[in-house]
Formats: sequence, C-alpha cells, structure tokens
Amino acid sequence: MSPPRPSLALSGAFSEDHAKAYDTQFSALSGIQACMHLLTDAYLSPLPEEARILVAGAGTGAEVRYLAPRHPGWRFTLVDPSGPMLAIARRHAEAEGFADRCSFHEAYVSETPVEAHDGATSLLVSHFLTDAAARQAYFADIAARLKPGARFINVDLSTDDNAPSFAGVMGLWMDIFRLGGQTEENRANYLNAYGKQFAAHGPEQVAQMIEAGGFTPPAPVFQAALIRGWTATRA
Ligand SMILES: C[S@@+](CC[C@H](N)C(=O)[O-])C[C@H]1O[C@@H](n2cnc3c(N)ncnc32)[C@H](O)[C@@H]1O
Repeated sequence: MSPPRPSLALSGAFSEDHAKAYDTQFSALSGIQACMHLLTDAYLSPLPEEARILVAGAGTGAEVRYLAPRHPGWRFTLVDPSGPMLAIARRHAEAEGFADRCSFHEAYVSETPVEAHDGATSLLVSHFLTDAAARQAYFADIAARLKPGARFINVDLSTDDNAPSFAGVMGLWMDIFRLGGQTEENRANYLNAYGKQFAAHGPEQVAQMIEAGGFTPPAPVFQAALIRGWTATRA
C-alpha cells in the first residue's frame, strides 16, 4: 500500500467540476495570462532546441499549449496532483498534436523521478502552499529536478498585506473580477480567503523561499495587481 500523501496543498480544490470550468473561468484575466506566457517563452527561449521542461502544477496545461508549438523539439514533464486537471491537459495535448512530447504525472513534484530538466515553470501554483516550510520545500523539489544553471520562472499571487498600498492593489484586483462577471458574494468570499487559504506570504518572503529552495536570487520580472513573477536559475 502506498503511503498517504502529505497534506501539502489544495489539490482537492481542483475537482472534476472545477477542472471543467477552469479554462474559461478566468477569461477576464486572459490579458494577464498572455503576458505570463510571453515572459515564460522569452525567458526559456535560450534553452537548447531539445530542452526538457518541468511544468510544476501544470493544471489543464495552458503554459504547455503556448510553448509546445513554438518549440517543436522541447519535451514537457507535466506534474499536478489533480487528476481531473491533468486529464484535460492530456486531452488538449492530444488534440493539438504534441502529446508524444509530454509525460503526465498525477503527483506532487516530490513524488516524481529526479531527472535533469533544462528549465521549469510554476505558474499560479505555489500560492496554494500556505505553510512556509512546505512552500520552500516545493521550490526545493523543483530545483532537485533541474540541471545546474537551468532556468525557472515562478508566477504567483503575492502581496504585502500590511503595506499602505494593499487596499488599492486589492481594490484593482476586485475591479478586474467585477469586470469578469464575478458576483459581489464571490468577491467577498475571495477577500475572506485571501492571505489565509492562499497567498499567505508576501513577495519578499516568496523570493527568499525560491532562493532558499536552491535558486539564484530571483529577479522580480512581473507584476499585474496581485500577481507577481520571478525568474531564477538553478544554483
Ligand atoms: C491555478 S492552477 C494553475 C494551472 C496552470 N499552471 C495554469 O497556469 O493555468 C493551479 C494548479 O496547481 C495544482 N497544485 C496545487 N498544489 C500543488 C502542489 N503542491 N504541487 C503541484 N501542483 C499543485 C492544482 O492542482 C492546479 O492544477
């Protein structure tokens, strides 16, 4: 019998229903997603033509769908503890003709083989780890699967809740949600959960955790309201 999974994350939140809705649910954020993908592509593009990319928290595979056609020699390791999310990622990969360049792991990163990748992505994942030690371990698990000097891009929800600017930044985020059709009740629920059930650490803490996980000091390369992004290389 396999040992019980550590209760690391909210993988259970990405259930069958959530997975089915995921690709369209955040259409209001598509402009931000496009920017994340552009940055990811630009940062990883110097990697070799036959690079291997670890996609941590791949979900329905949005980042792979963007990268795979642009880099026909790259191979992708998609890792996600949510079976329903990963099943959709596999269907997209098959429909779009790059499934033969993907391996799919319904698992936490720590449960996957330690293989040498040239690059890694973690887009909108680590903010679900509310325990600082678990979040740092997540970055260390990614680092352990990379070659020295490999490139890593991490994008997360993170903000300094105590800063005087917090109310303004959160207000803007809620306006984006309102434009996207989220009800007042949904927005209130989000506000209640923010900083507690997810996004529990500020940007400086996240950057420190990435570095302590085994990367060079991360460069802050992106902010769109509450979303922050960093690039770093495997130390
Ligand atoms: C918001 S989705 C992001 C999916 C994809 N990266 C994207 O940009 O669309 C977050 C994903 O992280 C996964 N996840 C949650 N905790 C995780 C963990 N500890 N390790 C790896 N993936 C995790 C969830 O199952 C979910 O599929």
